[in-house]
Amino acid sequence: MLKWMMILCVALSATLSAEIKVLAFAGSTREDSVNKKLVSEAANLARQLGASVTVIDLRDYPTPFYDADLEAAQGMPVKAKELRRLMIDSQAIFIASPLYNGSVSAVLKNAIDWASRGENGGSSREAFKGKKFAIMSASPSAKGGAKGLTHLRAILEDIGGTVIPQQVALPDAYHAFDDQGRLKNEQIKAELQQLVETALK
Ligand SMILES: Cc1cc2nc3c(=O)[nH]c(=O)nc-3n(C[C@H](O)[C@H](O)[C@H](O)COP(=O)(O)O)c2cc1C
Repeated sequence: MLKWMMILCVALSATLSAEIKVLAFAGSTREDSVNKKLVSEAANLARQLGASVTVIDLRDYPTPFYDADLEAAQGMPVKAKELRRLMIDSQAIFIASPLYNGSVSAVLKNAIDWASRGENGGSSREAFKGKKFAIMSASPSAKGGAKGLTHLRAILEDIGGTVIPQQVALPDAYHAFDDQGRLKNEQIKAELQQLVETALK
């Protein structure tokens, strides 16, 4: 009896998560980016919990710096539209942000700025409101990228996103992954698992 109840619980939680669409990306376009590795690990955990996960590389979404004149003349660039649409279609969004001079990368901020615009100009909160954001950062420094996450949290909340209270800041990131790009540290894995579980609730 107990066995059947446990099977039912597992099946039920998988079904619930299966309804959740997750978009995951890093704020770095670098080939060997540690933030891409970290967000991929989070994506793997979400898949194990039954979520439908799309991992994208911002390198595949090249977008000019936001310029109101360009927007007025040509509308939203095609790749910005695609990224914004993916965000709108997701319930949870995982972002791993590198720490650049104590803050988020320009690539990430530019992507967020375009996503905060409507396709016909004007501000829009559709890609942020009602979305759960799980934020994380991998940095080669001993402190991790927590400082930049404070900025990322403030930006996302300012435009209506729900940023879950937990976050993961991975220090010494150049030594944190094995050859397969898997996290080596069990403590960080447990923190990431908790972050992902909260995002899928
Ligand atoms: C413009 C720039 C600014 C940076 N600023 C910081 C910083 O303030 N603190 C830090 O620990 N690392 C800093 N770094 C190092 C990055 O954390 C490191 O390059 C990291 O690998 C970037 O993430 P990625 O591997 O996902 O591309 C900086 C790197 C660049 C290119």
